[in-house]
Amino acid sequence: MKKIFLNLGRQPITNSFLKKLDKKTLANEFFYNLKITFDTNTKLVSLLNFVKPEKMFNEKYAHRASSSLTMMNHFKKISLKLKKKFKEIRCLEIGSNDGAFIRNFNKKSVIAVEPCKNLAVITNKLGYTTYPKFWNFELSEKIKKKHGKMNIIFSSNTISHVPKLDEIFKGIENILKDDGLFVFEDPYIYSVLKNNSYDQFYDEHAHLFSLLAMKNIVKSYNLKIVNVEKLDTHGGSIRFYISKISSKYKVQKNVKKMLDLEIKNNLNHLKTYKLFATRVKKSKIKLQKILNKIKSSNNKIVGYGATYKSATVYNYCNINAKKINYIVDTTINKQNKFTPGSHIKIKSPEKGFNNKLNIKFAFLGAWNFKREILKKEMNYIKNGGAFITHVPEPRIINLKNVNKEIR
Ligand code: TMP
Repeated sequence: MKKIFLNLGRQPITNSFLKKLDKKTLANEFFYNLKITFDTNTKLVSLLNFVKPEKMFNEKYAHRASSSLTMMNHFKKISLKLKKKFKEIRCLEIGSNDGAFIRNFNKKSVIAVEPCKNLAVITNKLGYTTYPKFWNFELSEKIKKKHGKMNIIFSSNTISHVPKLDEIFKGIENILKDDGLFVFEDPYIYSVLKNNSYDQFYDEHAHLFSLLAMKNIVKSYNLKIVNVEKLDTHGGSIRFYISKISSKYKVQKNVKKMLDLEIKNNLNHLKTYKLFATRVKKSKIKLQKILNKIKSSNNKIVGYGATYKSATVYNYCNINAKKINYIVDTTINKQNKFTPGSHIKIKSPEKGFNNKLNIKFAFLGAWNFKREILKKEMNYIKNGGAFITHVPEPRIINLKNVNKEIR
């Protein structure tokens, strides 16, 4: 039974950056109610109201996985690891974005699936056969007929985006070779609880997985979880290695270890999520206090990173252009646009974050890259600049405490 434990209020589509703020654009902006549920049977954490995938994943999709050096290195590492496991590689990626993962593979050995047409065009041009479609059973049939079964199926930050998980797993069961592995990674609910990172809840994250929940899900599809890893990416993620039940793979010790950890931390009880909701409400009040105090002393606050996550923070905490003057972001197709719901202008770092501007406070929207950013902006900090972050709790990072934050 699904129980609501958190209400993050009226929220926009996080990927819908606005080109202008005229009356028509504002009147057409889409909002929905962001409420989070815990299923007492399956232990799965999901949004109450799913946003239609077509509204989020279309030809306007802004995120480019390959724009992050951290992610490029991350994909290189996992590709090498997977390539070592098989003599002949037949690889399928679900949600290939701009090809950050598949670029590590031979073009002939990979089939990609990517519903955002602007992204599918990029990988097709690179020479990787890419289906500009949503993954489902029907597509798995089509690909199986044309390209055969696969021994590596990979997916990063995509499976959690799919409201109907049944379609995902039916398709996987259909196309996975008997000795194949389905490896996927998504933000981990345990990290969210630990870090108070409620901004992992937004339209695209239809679910946030635990091992407990995933175990319950896969058992209906003739599949088993053979290994699991905790990752640092995207503010704390979980990677599952899944095979056919009858495969040669033995279940690794990690699986029991992580299950024990989740049970010890009560991830199977609604009460844990209710307590988290109380911490989230406190976090909102504390962040608002910090921002109000800075503003009352007539200081500018700049946002650092127009992440999708930060849309949840801005809209839940009622932060708009009166609080955050503007945001800087390295992604070219976010620049010169306005954030969804909160309507804050986005500039390039060159224009909005240089020494001449004498900025003293920056809100770390991209907190998942905290170490990388603090190191990169050490001169800003040495010159008296500070960062504000809300993870795991709202606070100011400046020259006095920065070393502790980088460690
Ligand atoms: P992500 O968390 O969805 O990967 O998005 C990170 C966003 O933060 C992306 O739009 C790029 C931006 N960003 C910067 O603007 N500067 C930086 O130094 C880093 C690491 C990210």
